[in-house]
Amino acid sequence: MNTPVLDIGTFTESLLIFGGPYSNLAATQTMRDEAERLQIPPQRIICTGDLVAYCARPQETVDLIRDWGIHVVLGNCEESLAARAIDCGCGFETGTACSLLSVEWYHYAAQRIDEATRIWFTTLPKALKLNFQNHRVQVVHGTPTRINQFIFASTDQNEKLQELKTLECDILIAGHCGIPFGESIDNKYWLNAGVIGMPANDGTPDGWYMLLDGSNGSCRTSWHRLTYPAAQTATEMQSAGLKSGYAETILTGFWPSEDVLPKQEKKQRGKAFQPAPLNL
Ligand SMILES: [Fe+2]
Repeated sequence: MNTPVLDIGTFTESLLIFGGPYSNLAATQTMRDEAERLQIPPQRIICTGDLVAYCARPQETVDLIRDWGIHVVLGNCEESLAARAIDCGCGFETGTACSLLSVEWYHYAAQRIDEATRIWFTTLPKALKLNFQNHRVQVVHGTPTRINQFIFASTDQNEKLQELKTLECDILIAGHCGIPFGESIDNKYWLNAGVIGMPANDGTPDGWYMLLDGSNGSCRTSWHRLTYPAAQTATEMQSAGLKSGYAETILTGFWPSEDVLPKQEKKQRGKAFQPAPLNL
């Protein structure tokens, strides 16, 4: 079964972190090409989970990630598919638009991943820990205590602090919520790398990834747009009969539902943003 915490060692050179490939093969291939351009090897690349979700190429996306050989944290989508659960386990409230929209892609994905993939999902760690430039780092999907908890930039700091206190770490890197951010809280850091397989509801088709820069003994984090052939992904989704609105999202950059978003993030809809780099 899934290892609770896997120690992947000590690093001094740059790390690349991204989340949410979401069955978006074109975005995932572009992320791999970008990592090669940046000369960051798979041993220094981490995915925060949810390999399989909204888009049309679930099996191919998993195969690409496994062939690439990067570190992967278990996402709620992998956990649900491995357990043959009735839904994606995203934490959407029953009856909300997000919950209703997830039915289509979850069943689509569940019918298209093979048994070997389900078994591989059961081997993924729930958390990674590592040392980076003398900082203790932990990587999870949602929060340390709940795989499907949505934590946004605007989420109350006390809530984040309670989670940080459960760990012996200086930097927590999480995923799941789909919008990147970084925040200093009580001499610790909460970082969200963003996702590559869906836009960040900012009115552009781009995904996001994060770099932890270790050059010259520094420790700095920065966020970067991933521009990829989004039209290809949208066409694949339409051809596959995925009609719940995410194919349009891939092109427009606007989410089909904002049920999970706090008020502050709703106000950011369609506004260009760029998380400020942080010196850690
Ligand atoms: Fe998730």
